[in-house]
Amino acid sequence: MSDICIVYDRVRWEEKCLCEKAIKLGHTSKMIDAKTLAISTFDGNTSHNFGDIVLQRCISHYRGLYLTACLEFLGSNVINAYSTAEICGNKLLTSVYLSRHRIPTPVTQFAFGPDVAGEVGDEMGYPLVLKPIVGSWGRMIIPIKDKDVMDSIIEMREEMSNPLNKIYYLQDYVNRPPRDIRTIVVDDRVVTAIYRYSPEGEWRTNISRGGKAELCPITNELEDICMKTSKAVGSGILGIDLMEDKEKGLVVHEVNNTVEFKGASTVSEKDIAAEIVNYASKMAM
Ligand SMILES: Nc1ncnc2c1ncn2[C@@H]1O[C@H](COP(=O)(O)OP(=O)(O)O)[C@@H](O)[C@H]1O
Ligand SMILES: [Mg+2]
Repeated sequence: MSDICIVYDRVRWEEKCLCEKAIKLGHTSKMIDAKTLAISTFDGNTSHNFGDIVLQRCISHYRGLYLTACLEFLGSNVINAYSTAEICGNKLLTSVYLSRHRIPTPVTQFAFGPDVAGEVGDEMGYPLVLKPIVGSWGRMIIPIKDKDVMDSIIEMREEMSNPLNKIYYLQDYVNRPPRDIRTIVVDDRVVTAIYRYSPEGEWRTNISRGGKAELCPITNELEDICMKTSKAVGSGILGIDLMEDKEKGLVVHEVNNTVEFKGASTVSEKDIAAEIVNYASKMAM
């Protein structure tokens, strides 16, 4: 039996569910609000008790990432590891890792200045999709229909203070059905897969934007691509997003580091929380 620590910055359905499941399965479990933590380089491992294993569940990418670095410094086992969190929390790094491991992914280009971003856009052709390299829930993912819109968005982003907005992540608009696929992958295995259908008047399929979940069969092809993706980013507990490209077949477009599974739980026959807790307990040994 393990002592499982869940660190969070806002308690969602998932964090409650994981804590209750851990206790139900005979482990001890506690929740720690990351916003209350201060860690010193002289701490050793004395002033905090993070149990045998930490499930890092912060909504804020940066808080979760740097807290993971500190917890690893203190000698804690953290899921996911810092290196995985760094890759998955950043779409540019994710695309680089996917391509390096020859995992099918949409054609994506990165541009590091406004003029070259415009040139790359013209060369790729419209429509295309512009994404912030750090972000989630479909926020600021923009379908760009033509050059005029592209130029206006570049002008706007150059005025923004966040330096990440000056790095342009441009992706082919994938010709897909009005749905995508989310798989929940634990320890390099697909626990469950769902289709996410975009709601009326919305092109993005995120559940947080009203997308509807439906069970998706786990084919050998889906299992294989997800296993390779998981290994490419360093394994752990992952939410892999894929699209069914009408020309190229399955393509991976994102890997989520702190996966939400409320939507998937409504349609899956699997006990997702139990799979996560069992994996955490195994990694605590
Ligand atoms: N290249 C693309 N072509 C078509 N639809 C896309 C493309 N990229 C993203 N989408 C849609 O937008 C949603 C959000 O994009 P995603 O890259 O997963 O970012 P987020 O981190 O915000 O979830 C996807 O689930 C999909 O429905
Ligand atoms: Mg996504």
